[in-house]
Amino acid sequence: MNPILVIYGTTDGHTKKLAYFLSDALQQTGARVDVVRAGKDAIDPDPNAYSGIVVAGSVHAGGYQRPLRRWVGAHAEALGHRPAVFLSVCLGVLQDDPAVAADLDRIMHRFFTQTGWHPAMTKTVAGALPYSRYGIVKRWVMRRMARKAGVETDPHQDYEYTDWDDLRLFARGFSSSVRAAAPIPFKRPTQVAEATI
Ligand SMILES: Cc1cc2nc3c(=O)[nH]c(=O)nc-3n(C[C@H](O)[C@H](O)[C@H](O)COP(=O)(O)O)c2cc1C
Repeated sequence: MNPILVIYGTTDGHTKKLAYFLSDALQQTGARVDVVRAGKDAIDPDPNAYSGIVVAGSVHAGGYQRPLRRWVGAHAEALGHRPAVFLSVCLGVLQDDPAVAADLDRIMHRFFTQTGWHPAMTKTVAGALPYSRYGIVKRWVMRRMARKAGVETDPHQDYEYTDWDDLRLFARGFSSSVRAAAPIPFKRPTQVAEATI
């Protein structure tokens, strides 16, 4: 089996943490894993070199990171030919509101239309509110956003809403489906000795 690629986009760093967590969890299942930040250091991983791919991006003001969109757009066809999953990291998922859920669905499907990749598997993951990484304006905006969503937060504290146990289970399931889809390596039949009479 070829390795699994975890490629991610991040703005405030949480999806990077998530990508490395997934990498560890996948490695625990015996898989080899490469983790790449989309658009970083001109690295352009070729999906054809991988048995499975996890694409993870975080929602910021209704869209995902541009370098991630570019990479997926450039490799949409190859992505369609192997087990590949899109992970959407956001905070809207914490709201028990059908209108917010519909909006998140729209954001994800716009990404698929823009890139031409329509993954068979998607997963929405609750992200983080790392106030200590924000400037004063962003801190104020995000506190208001959280409050509007019905969550009271203290801007002098960081919050993480990701369910790591669920993500570990997801990694195990994904690794199994990659393994199941991988071609069985060709094994030369052992030579049967000619019988001597
Ligand atoms: C400026 C800003 C805008 C955001 N916009 C949205 C949004 O439209 N919908 C949403 O569900 N979450 C939104 N979020 C929450 C992020 O998706 C969440 O904080 C995520 O963990 C960020 O991941 P990252 O650290 O990898 O960038 C926003 C966060 C920030 C800071």
